[in-house]
Amino acid sequence: MSVQKKTSPKRITTQVLQDMKVNGEKISMLTAYDFTMGGIIDKAGIEVILVGDSASNVMAGHETTLPITLDQMIYHASSVIRAVERALVVVDLPFGSYQGNSRAALDAAIRIMKESGGHAVKLEGGAEISESITRILSAGIPVMGHLGLTPQSIYKFGTYVVRAKEEQEAKQLMKDAKMLEELGCFAIVLEKIPAKLAKKVAQSVKIPVIGIGAGSGVDGQVLVLHDMLGLSKEFSPRFLRRYNNFYDQMIDSVSHYIKDVKAEDFPSEKEQY
Ligand code: KIV
Repeated sequence: MSVQKKTSPKRITTQVLQDMKVNGEKISMLTAYDFTMGGIIDKAGIEVILVGDSASNVMAGHETTLPITLDQMIYHASSVIRAVERALVVVDLPFGSYQGNSRAALDAAIRIMKESGGHAVKLEGGAEISESITRILSAGIPVMGHLGLTPQSIYKFGTYVVRAKEEQEAKQLMKDAKMLEELGCFAIVLEKIPAKLAKKVAQSVKIPVIGIGAGSGVDGQVLVLHDMLGLSKEFSPRFLRRYNNFYDQMIDSVSHYIKDVKAEDFPSEKEQY
């Protein structure tokens, strides 16, 4: 069922998101990594689809987001793009494709735009990647920033706990957010930081701020689709709201199928030629 919204443009653009912030209309964003899921959440009316490097965990079973490659991100993104008619599709630049070399960053972003048809890219980090962001933006590619808990730096952090609780890190995060805005990013994701700080950031910049584990005072929310659908039971952070329990439903369905096959109940007379 499609959700009735105040803003109902045919296609979501970065300008639409900006207008939503100005009008105080919250932005909804979810991840997708394939054609089927991308099509479903687009039909449901989601504004932004993130082809996240969380595909590394969710689709490939890796412990971190680090192993996923640019080719794999392009594969996932192009699958999603083929299904999407309305949402803005943002694609993560994978670890190693933009840190430390702005020319490589631009090449990676161009490959994503050309080969997948994605509409924008997302990069993790602040001042340390400003050169890469500037170069990508100069090619006319919209950039979404990502601050706070940045999973590609997990080996530096050593843990997935809440970031920027201390004053110094909070100040740096605020500085980075303002810098991302000045560089020309169209939006910023804030991951797992105190709600009070996230609200302050959202009030301090004019571009939309989308939170995950960053409280309700921001301009929109993002979750990993498989987590919010309850397709897995293992990941249970405090910020996650499960809207369904598809893990148990799938176990039930598959168990039922196995039982029917073994009992020669499936296929029935009507289900054969
Ligand atoms: O890759 C991802 O899923 C993300 C979200 C958690 C924001 O970056």
